[in-house]
Amino acid sequence: MSSTSVTPSVLIVGAGPAGSVLALTLLKNGIPVRIVDKEGPQIGQKGLGVQPRSLEMHHFLGTLPDFLSIARRLPVCNIYKTPGGTEILKTIEIDPFEEPTPDSPYINSLMLGQHRQQSILHRHLEKYGCKAEFLTEMRSFQQFDDHVLATLVTKDQDGTEISETVKVPYLVGTDGAHSTVRKALGLNFLGETRDDVNMIIGDIHVKGGLERKFWHSWGEPSKLVALIPTEVDDDIFTFMIGGTESDQAKTASGRDELVKTISFITDRTDIDFGELVWISRYRPNIRMVDKFGEGRVFVAGDAAHIHSPTGGQGTNSGVQDSFNLGWKLALVLKGVSPSSLLATYTEERLPVIAAMLDKSTLLLNRSLAPSPVQGHNWERGKEFKQLGVNYRGSSTLVDETIALTQDLTPTDSYSLASDGVIHAGDRAPQAPSLETLHSNRNHSPALTSLFDIFGPDHHTLLVFGSSKFNGEAIASELSAYPQNLFKTVLILPTVGTSESELSDLVTQTSGVDLLLRDRDGYAHKYYPALPGPSTLVVVRPDGVVGAIVGGVEGLHQYLKGVFLTM
Ligand SMILES: Cc1cc2nc3c(=O)[nH]c(=O)nc-3n(C[C@H](O)[C@H](O)[C@H](O)COP(=O)(O)OP(=O)(O)OC[C@H]3O[C@@H](n4cnc5c(N)ncnc54)[C@H](O)[C@@H]3O)c2cc1C
Ligand SMILES: *[C@@H]1O[C@H](CO)[C@@H](O)[C@H](O)[C@H]1NC(C)=O
Repeated sequence: MSSTSVTPSVLIVGAGPAGSVLALTLLKNGIPVRIVDKEGPQIGQKGLGVQPRSLEMHHFLGTLPDFLSIARRLPVCNIYKTPGGTEILKTIEIDPFEEPTPDSPYINSLMLGQHRQQSILHRHLEKYGCKAEFLTEMRSFQQFDDHVLATLVTKDQDGTEISETVKVPYLVGTDGAHSTVRKALGLNFLGETRDDVNMIIGDIHVKGGLERKFWHSWGEPSKLVALIPTEVDDDIFTFMIGGTESDQAKTASGRDELVKTISFITDRTDIDFGELVWISRYRPNIRMVDKFGEGRVFVAGDAAHIHSPTGGQGTNSGVQDSFNLGWKLALVLKGVSPSSLLATYTEERLPVIAAMLDKSTLLLNRSLAPSPVQGHNWERGKEFKQLGVNYRGSSTLVDETIALTQDLTPTDSYSLASDGVIHAGDRAPQAPSLETLHSNRNHSPALTSLFDIFGPDHHTLLVFGSSKFNGEAIASELSAYPQNLFKTVLILPTVGTSESELSDLVTQTSGVDLLLRDRDGYAHKYYPALPGPSTLVVVRPDGVVGAIVGGVEGLHQYLKGVFLTM
């Protein structure tokens, strides 16, 4: 089953989206993992919204082409008048189309069922010789100073339990809302259960009578049906049904009762329903942990936070937890970073998740409120794309663009400050059309982009300003660490570098991996410049700006915060 020839460094409990992204991030760093799930492959669309920030993460993980080939845009939502059920009362765009820009090439949300996301990710794990181990339950674990012992249980053909003890340096629970790992750690899971909300969710085949081009909706919050076509290549619709407690029990009892309720609310008898894929009653819980781990054990995804599906943040927040934790665990396991780096996982994700819970709850409240148009307050803000999520104020960041006295702690971890200027802790923007002038270590295409240079297994050092460029000083600052943990990229302005300067630079660039020319000026436009001769922007493996500094002293300060002094 697993690649047991290699001793795993991390045991990942739960092979949903959060666990799978963590596994892939670690494997891309050369860290061996085991990833187990007590169930088989997941069934159903569930967390089906894929937000732009997640698409960017998939770019870095190499999984994006597979997502783009089968995901679709959020359809326009038709709200129908009842009785009758066919006359359109209102059309709303839940996620109005935005024109991509050079710094944000993926700016529109997409839909892709959670089970399809899982299978794409698992295919990528297999490229690294790692197979998610299904029907393998983690029952209990014990923490020691330098390792964790976990008990895994599988069943043989006769149903006899086979138990195995695994010893690993770290364990991560991505085991969903009912997380065994969270409970065993005794983490608080604070929040509320919304007894006032009764929903039924599931997937059903629709053989005819309903256009797949639209999201269809009828009724009002207390008696609502939404049918949402999700993927391009099948006839499945995801349904959401709002109603009262007593109605819901009956509706959820099976396909025929479900179809009856839908016909009753929509007043439509012409929709040809096929088989039911899955159905579940759902009452939002709005809860989160107050720390994302303890010692050598961490939680991510639904194990750490659950909330209303309004706004489509669930899966996305979970995979971003994993992407934040993954590179840090990798550096600690490589022996180059102190284990205290792992504390920044809670430090950075906690305020973001708290903000997300507020925002998705606000959207839930709005969607329940009576509205002029039969209660369909589904339009959502751009912040749900998660491009403004930031870690400003986090302890390892270094930012010389601000005065020391200025407090960079964000008032909103979900939205960038209004100054529109990039600070340490922000998402690092894309910049396309960079011409490769010289490449020392990595093969680089003639025309490249920052997103193609960033990656989960290295920090990228972007150096702007060539005149006083000191590649040697940077190289000597980095020489204490394994070379493959960094990519140093010198970005020359569009114009202003003479041919002779250029040839000098090429011969002097022993300290850089890539010498690029900012052909269309995007890198210089989107990235900040300090008043001095050069600006160094450090981009972390998770595509977040770690430092903006004017020279090697600032770089040294950043490295000291993230890496061990070698
Ligand atoms: C009914 C339902 C509907 C939803 N609808 C939406 C929606 O419309 N939009 C949205 O954004 N989100 C939705 N969500 C939430 C979304 O599905 C989650 O946010 C997302 O699945 C979180 O991913 P995850 O990887 O953290 O956890 P999960 O996908 O829940 O994965 C956890 C995995 O851990 C495994 N596991 C649990 N315990 C153990 C153990 N002890 N040992 C081994 N394996 C274990 C489970 O089998 C499971 O596969 C919905 C969730 C549910 C349950
Ligand atoms: C949403 O509504 C609930 C119940 O009415 C209320 O307790 C909560 O404060 C509201 N939350 C937000 C973020 O508006």
